[in-house]
Amino acid sequence: MLDRRTLLLSSLSLGACGATSPTPPAAPVVALKTLCPFPVGVCATALQLEEHGWTELVLSQFNQLTPEWQMKMEYTLQPDFSLRFDAPDAIVAFAREHALGVHGHALIWYSQGEAAFGALADDRFIAEFDRYVTGVVAHYRDRVVSWDVVNEPVTDEGSALRTSHWDRIPGPDGHIARAFRIAREADPRAVLFLNDYNLESNPTKGATFLRLVERLVSAGVPIGGIGIQSHLDIEAPAGQISSFMKSAAQFGLPIHVSEVDASLRNGRTFDLRSVAERQRQQLARVGELANAFMDLPRSQQFAFSIWGARDTDSPLRRDDRDDGKDRPVLFDEHGEPNPAYFAVADAFRRATPGSPAKTPQT
Ligand code: G3I
Repeated sequence: MLDRRTLLLSSLSLGACGATSPTPPAAPVVALKTLCPFPVGVCATALQLEEHGWTELVLSQFNQLTPEWQMKMEYTLQPDFSLRFDAPDAIVAFAREHALGVHGHALIWYSQGEAAFGALADDRFIAEFDRYVTGVVAHYRDRVVSWDVVNEPVTDEGSALRTSHWDRIPGPDGHIARAFRIAREADPRAVLFLNDYNLESNPTKGATFLRLVERLVSAGVPIGGIGIQSHLDIEAPAGQISSFMKSAAQFGLPIHVSEVDASLRNGRTFDLRSVAERQRQQLARVGELANAFMDLPRSQQFAFSIWGARDTDSPLRRDDRDDGKDRPVLFDEHGEPNPAYFAVADAFRRATPGSPAKTPQT
């Protein structure tokens, strides 16, 4: 008897080569948020709040939102250094109306703020840095449970911290340490995260990131959590994801798997993998990630967040490399489960008393 997942996989591979395929029987899809004790999150934009397909899927499956871009400096900071909050306020209001949590993203990022801050004299630079972090965090105090205080501090190559316009903040780990301290003053209760990507697929980068965490913890910087973005490289060797998760867990801090997607594309000009091979790789890596998160102590399972409710909500389906066939997240454009949904749901079911042990990963 073919189960739903096998049917999905077969329809995927047949569909990809243009053959017609049996439509999998509609079956109730269990809400991810009901399977586990930690929040299951998804990114959101103010525009999506108006779209019934998005709200119906999100309210049924998820219980935490991360503003995808409108809580970042690119949206909030005005040329006169005033702040605008209309769009992120709409996201926060929607979340509160539907009893969803909100993870704030992102206060300080190397890739934003240079135009506005670059023109400032040093003393004004520091004052405006403090004023920005304080202004945003204080605005959302008691409404946003946690923040990506500093986003992507490590270079892509992985052996060093990025250099940026923020380096004008003095002191060891300068702007990083200061951002956490100012955020803590603005909201004594929010959980404050350091967030980055490719930590699992680039061991050098992962090690540099964890050395930074260690320095911050040792210096008494109020870092309260580790964000592992998890934009997965589905061709990464088996075991790297689990290995990094175990290393990250050594600090005892809550871990946020913060921006999960698993593109079937690899960006190479000639990708000789069949759709079925890509799908197998994706299921193996997504399953490894979800199971590695389930292996954490409950106190360290902060949240598991997906970067896009449906494939067509993913930025991977908005960029110029999109081939229109990528299925990077858990639900397709119609809100139907992708095979990756089952890999996550299977892992989350381990939280159900008496459930089977974890699914072996290839
Ligand atoms: O919607 C507006 C449109 O009205 C306007 O005409 C256009 C030009 O200004 O901008 C559009 O907004 C864009 C938005 O994405 C929606 O597409 C913003 O310019 C653009 O900066 C924004 O990009 C976001 C990017 O971060 C930078 O903030 C992506 O949506 C978002 O998915 C991406 O997310 C990042 C995480 O924050 C950090 N980790 C990597 C992740 C993926 O790149």
